[in-house]
Amino acid sequence: MSLGLAIVGHGKMGKLIERLAPEHGFEVRAKFDGRNNGNAQALSRETLRGVDVAVEFTAPQAALENIRRLAVLGVNAVVGTTGWLEQLASAREAVEQGKTGLVWAPNFSVGVNLFFDVVAHAAALFAGHSEYEAWGWEIHHGAKKDELSGTLKKLAEEMRAAAGKKGFFEFKEILGELG
Ligand SMILES: NC(=O)c1ccc[n+]([C@@H]2O[C@H](COP(=O)([O-])OP(=O)(O)OC[C@H]3O[C@@H](n4cnc5c(N)ncnc54)[C@H](OP(=O)(O)O)[C@@H]3O)[C@@H](O)[C@H]2O)c1
Repeated sequence: MSLGLAIVGHGKMGKLIERLAPEHGFEVRAKFDGRNNGNAQALSRETLRGVDVAVEFTAPQAALENIRRLAVLGVNAVVGTTGWLEQLASAREAVEQGKTGLVWAPNFSVGVNLFFDVVAHAAALFAGHSEYEAWGWEIHHGAKKDELSGTLKKLAEEMRAAAGKKGFFEFKEILGELG
């Protein structure tokens, strides 16, 4: 039997998830975008009937309200949206109150998650050598809306935690079209 999926954010990622859902045992039972769910008001018991989990790939300003609404309605969520991390405490509170589950990652790639560990290890090794500093450069497609990306912020967080120093890193961003 298929699990019911809601797609919250029907953009590039939402459409990809919709296409891949059936082969992973999910049936898409609801879809929302910025037009029909501007401030999360379209998320209701009725529209989410039969939904076991919602996948949220929207925009930084939309994520928290969607997370709150899903939690109130008792729907588990997987959130890939970036750029809302400073609101994580509010999201945590909502999810705890709703007794739902939430999985969030700025990047779901297995390779990138291994790279987070590699970077943390490298930062710890370099931390004891004050003659070395670290920089993060980011190059991404020109249509990306949030900058710096959640992935680069997560790398910075890993480096700071492992190196145990603040102000040890400097970040530069290069925006560009990759041909
Ligand atoms: N964690 C990861 O591995 C990962 C990977 C890729 C992308 N991302 C992140 O995921 C997010 C989405 O990426 P994307 O490339 O799919 O963006 P996108 O193509 O711009 O799609 C965003 C979608 O969200 C919709 N939306 C906006 N506000 C909404 C709301 N309140 N309720 C429901 N839908 C809403 C938009 O609808 P309208 O067009 O009607 O406004 C659009 O369909 C970004 O933050 C991106 O950085 C994360």
